[in-house]
Amino acid sequence: MIERKRNFLVIPLLMAFMLILVGCEDEHIAKGHKIFSRYCSACHGEDGDGTGYNATNMDPVPRDLTDSDEDYMAKLSNDEIFEVLQLGGYGVDLSGGMPVWGKVFSEEELWALVAYVRTLHPNEGNEVVFTKPDSEEPLFAAKRVRYPKVREKKFYDLLESLAPDEEAVQEQVALGEEIYSEVGCNACHRINGEGGELGPDLSGAGFMLQTQFIFRWILNPQSFKPKTRMANLDLNEEDAFAISLYLSTLKTASPEDKISDEEGRDAEDEGV
Ligand code: HEC
Ligand code: HEC
Repeated sequence: MIERKRNFLVIPLLMAFMLILVGCEDEHIAKGHKIFSRYCSACHGEDGDGTGYNATNMDPVPRDLTDSDEDYMAKLSNDEIFEVLQLGGYGVDLSGGMPVWGKVFSEEELWALVAYVRTLHPNEGNEVVFTKPDSEEPLFAAKRVRYPKVREKKFYDLLESLAPDEEAVQEQVALGEEIYSEVGCNACHRINGEGGELGPDLSGAGFMLQTQFIFRWILNPQSFKPKTRMANLDLNEEDAFAISLYLSTLKTASPEDKISDEEGRDAEDEGV
């Protein structure tokens, strides 16, 4: 008699608990989906099949996350997917065309992205777990880390030490042009007709923007505009310096090259 009563309680309790678990999981996947639509779909496509509007002319092309042609994603572990999101393609010996997201999103948001990406292809990988075993305590930091704005002075210090004369400036410009492609700026920006369309055309960057601002922006775009779709590529100061000098030489001024307020820019409230 007593035992029957206990079962009577245990089963609904268990079911309620499972519902809570399922509910939480969905919430993370939904969060991942929302971030994906805003930050990833331009390249990977809204459905994840690699056919976003920004995928045109990219080499290599954005990965088809749905595995429609081959079993690729299915073979990756959750940790491997996390790592490429955190460090970018360049950080794991893939192409710099896949940006670095580890300095933009919180740990929890990165895992929410992994959980969402896992829903895009058939796989038998372990589910992403967001809470510590036997408790409701979250496993991952939910807050984004805010990195401070880079100071103007940093730029002028480097100008003095790295580019003291015209010849040294020219060396930095050449170096900057190389790094620009290597780290994947060209995946999102066009220069003289080549490159991606997610961000503004930079053919006239030298006219439109101050060099010290470019330097500070690319080191930490989120410190100027928290919800910008530009990734923080985790550049070191020397690389950012060389890139900013390179961009300062680009002065093609045609109306379509103008960095306009509409192009590639989003209203603050649109962001995730
Ligand atoms: C500017 C375009 C671009 C954006 C934006 C972008 N990706 Fe990618 N992604 C790529 C490219 C290109 C590759 C292929 C890299 C390679 O194979 O060398 C890739 C590869 C990947 C892979 C496969 C990695 C592997 O191990 O092969 C995953 C997963 C991925 N992206 C997820 C995302 C997510 C999630 C986002 C948004 C937070 C995102 N990407 C944003 C271009 C992009
Ligand atoms: C994932 C795509 C992406 C990548 C990668 C990327 N950008 Fe951007 N970039 C953008 C977007 C989007 C904007 C528009 C920003 C806004 O207003 O929110 C932008 C803006 C800019 C601006 C103009 C800032 C202004 O206020 O007008 C410069 C300069 C720039 N990016 C340079 C670079 C450089 C250099 C790199 C490589 C180190 C790079 N970007 C990598 C997407 C990207």
